[in-house]
Amino acid sequence: MTTAALAWSDLEDYFSLTEKLQKKYAKDIQISVGFEVDYLPGFEREIKAFLDEYGARTQQNILSVHFMQGKENGLWCLDYTTADFVDGFSSLLQKPQQLYQMYLKLIYQSVTADLGQYRPQRIGHMSLIKKYQDYFKLPEFFDEANLNLIKKILDIIAAQKRELDFNTAGMYKPYCNDFYPGKQITELAVQRGIPFVFGSDAHGIDEVGRGYHLKNILAKP
Ligand SMILES: [Fe+2]
Repeated sequence: MTTAALAWSDLEDYFSLTEKLQKKYAKDIQISVGFEVDYLPGFEREIKAFLDEYGARTQQNILSVHFMQGKENGLWCLDYTTADFVDGFSSLLQKPQQLYQMYLKLIYQSVTADLGQYRPQRIGHMSLIKKYQDYFKLPEFFDEANLNLIKKILDIIAAQKRELDFNTAGMYKPYCNDFYPGKQITELAVQRGIPFVFGSDAHGIDEVGRGYHLKNILAKP
């Protein structure tokens, strides 16, 4: 996909620019360099190789799942367009809790995968599968079976002392209308003492910091 991902050929430019900015503004602001790393099932070795090579030059990374097996067992992007979503996952739209479960199983795989010493510390948008929930009239809440899987995932994240991205981007998507990872996962994560880190998931400068004051709902009294 060329619309969202960084091209390999741009990697060095990304590092040289961000490292220059880190030095230039060192006194004013702490700038972290990093990636939202895609977890692609079956490509663990490649992901680890990437992290082994570049991880030492990063300070913060997020591990996210954007692709899932869909039609003809191909990997389909689940947050690109509604048309693409229906093309890849139409057989599951009538069984939305199964659709959710497929996604959550990938999250489980992603947090348990051996991605080496530079594995991302933070897990991104665990509820991304609900990005088009209002378009497809998907259930607002995870059912009992999915909640059990979510608890299992969160127990692992807590034991690993990793953290969750608290991400407001979904609130501004016309068919999501919720923050990531949503109320259910947030409450279960808070119960387990998993730290949240506020993120904008910005794809443009004007999106940075949108919904920032929502971070206060996670603040301890
Ligand atoms: Fe993402």
